[in-house]
Amino acid sequence: MTADRPSGKFITFEGGEGTGKTTQIKLLAEGLRAQGHDVVTTREPGGAPGADSIRSLLVSGATDKWDPLSECLLLFAARREHLNKTIWPALAQGAWVLCDRFSDSTMAYQGYGHDVPRPFIQGLYDMVVGDFAPDLTLILDLDVKVGLDRANTRNAETASGEDRFERLDQAFHERLRQGFLEIAQSAPERCTIIDADNTPDIVGAAIWMAVEKRLDTQMASP
Ligand code: TMP
Repeated sequence: MTADRPSGKFITFEGGEGTGKTTQIKLLAEGLRAQGHDVVTTREPGGAPGADSIRSLLVSGATDKWDPLSECLLLFAARREHLNKTIWPALAQGAWVLCDRFSDSTMAYQGYGHDVPRPFIQGLYDMVVGDFAPDLTLILDLDVKVGLDRANTRNAETASGEDRFERLDQAFHERLRQGFLEIAQSAPERCTIIDADNTPDIVGAAIWMAVEKRLDTQMASP
């Protein structure tokens, strides 16, 4: 099964820890709904029952509990469930799907961060996802230390225990930030970098403009 999407749009939000993706997805969803669009918000790893089970294996516990290659396989297994059960059906019904992380996170975290060979990740993508891709990817970019501080504060407040990746050292997070910037450079027709070092309203306005411009959609301000 692949996507059949008469009018739906698939927008992915990417970036390191604490870049404000969750807040921005909420703001964009509200704005789009106010314009009358049907909007589905979802996230990876997760977004479908089987994928949520895999998420719980990945996001907590010792930082070295998975070999990075096994981690890729788990992420793509979760992604396949997510596509089949949530993303493709929603797009086929004409919804706008806003997704918190997608395959660029695998390339950044497992590829650039953990040194899994990038052709291996691309090969998995080709087999699992095929020629389907986001209509637009918004990469929220922020100083690593600022982002990690934000993420650690949030984790202490929520006590979710979902901090397995946040606990990796700063050099890992610097590599994945660089990875996201290189991904954006290599796919400029799909990706836009958003400066996340600003208030939520200002970042939200930049995102709204990017969506309008890149998806050639007439949208009045939310
Ligand atoms: P979240 O904190 O944005 O919900 O994401 C959970 C963690 O999973 C986050 O620390 C990044 C990590 N992750 C990867 O390492 N590779 C991936 O492909 C995805 C989707 C997430």
